[in-house]
Amino acid sequence: DPLDRSGVWRYREFLPPLPPDQIVTRPEGNTNLYSAAALSTWTGCPHLLLKHEGENPTGSFKDRGMTVATSHARAVGARVVACASTGNTSASVAAYAAMAGLPAVVFLPEGKISAAKLGQAIAYGARIVQVRGDFDSAMRLVQEASQELGLYLLNSINPFRLAGQKTIVIELLHQLCWEPPDWIVLPGGNLGNTAAFGTAIVELEAAGLIRRRPRLAVIQAEGASPFYRAYRNGFASFSPEPAETVASAIRIGNPVSYDRARRSILETDGVVEIVTDDEILEAKARVDRSGIGCEPASAASVAGVRKLVRSGVIMPGQRVVALLTGHLLKDPDTVMAYHLGPEAEHRPMTNRPVTIEPTVAAL
Ligand code: F0G
Repeated sequence: DPLDRSGVWRYREFLPPLPPDQIVTRPEGNTNLYSAAALSTWTGCPHLLLKHEGENPTGSFKDRGMTVATSHARAVGARVVACASTGNTSASVAAYAAMAGLPAVVFLPEGKISAAKLGQAIAYGARIVQVRGDFDSAMRLVQEASQELGLYLLNSINPFRLAGQKTIVIELLHQLCWEPPDWIVLPGGNLGNTAAFGTAIVELEAAGLIRRRPRLAVIQAEGASPFYRAYRNGFASFSPEPAETVASAIRIGNPVSYDRARRSILETDGVVEIVTDDEILEAKARVDRSGIGCEPASAASVAGVRKLVRSGVIMPGQRVVALLTGHLLKDPDTVMAYHLGPEAEHRPMTNRPVTIEPTVAAL
């Protein structure tokens, strides 16, 4: 069965049933687990594995949700699909809509997404609407527009998206022969993955595939941390806030999956932590230098592991899997700014090219 080649559809017992002839797949998933001695040393976590979701067809984990939700859109006869995005969702929507033969409209905060991600959406042929405002206002607009204009919404509030993203955890635990790690550490923005991961863990336990629940650790950027603030006050209240961080993928102040993400933390005895932009950038430089590489938002998980080991939440002997959510090539501008920008000389692991005349003497 060709669907068995997809790291999403292979686990279709955990997915909503859809007509096989409507399924749009590249295929997705089958992403690798890596270890790197330098990262184990830097984080203080000897048993650290990295699951690289940047190895998906459009370079981020979004494809796992998109194959399910786009297939559903096609099965129900949607005429136009839409999303708001900090970049990766729009790249994935644009690609999957193109494969499905559906028109797509993507709403992007103008000037606030990486050029590489914008380039993907342009190239795959989505109609691009740049919104004067931040991601949260684009999200609000697309929700209103989808109600009033009948657009099929492909953001992670769509349960078919979240169903597909459960397979990150299912595939990960399968790779570990159903022996759960102590911790799964992931970046949190709109909180779709956090929501999906809790559901996956509870369902795997109910199915008898795992005997205990790994704990979730959600890492936010300090400047975009509404979920962290809610966690710190015992989830007594939640208030959206303006968001600012170098990790543009998670520059989100009003996450749509807040309620389900909260439940995931409670059900897995999870924690929420924050890291600074400098910590994110250093973690990214170290993941990159290890030869693995990732985009800035992904590195928040590795920076988070280090912080949680230092504060004694993660014990050095524990087994930890950190999620890398996007590919290094998603954000070359941040690479250049880090290595060549005005603050480069004060930063660890920088690497500045030199220019020479084409002679051995000059070399
Ligand atoms: N990492 C990357 C690379 C992302 O693109 C996103 C979200 C996240 C982490 C956060 O995941 O929303 O499930 O908590 N990107 C969305 C987008 C918002 O529009 O591409 P989350």
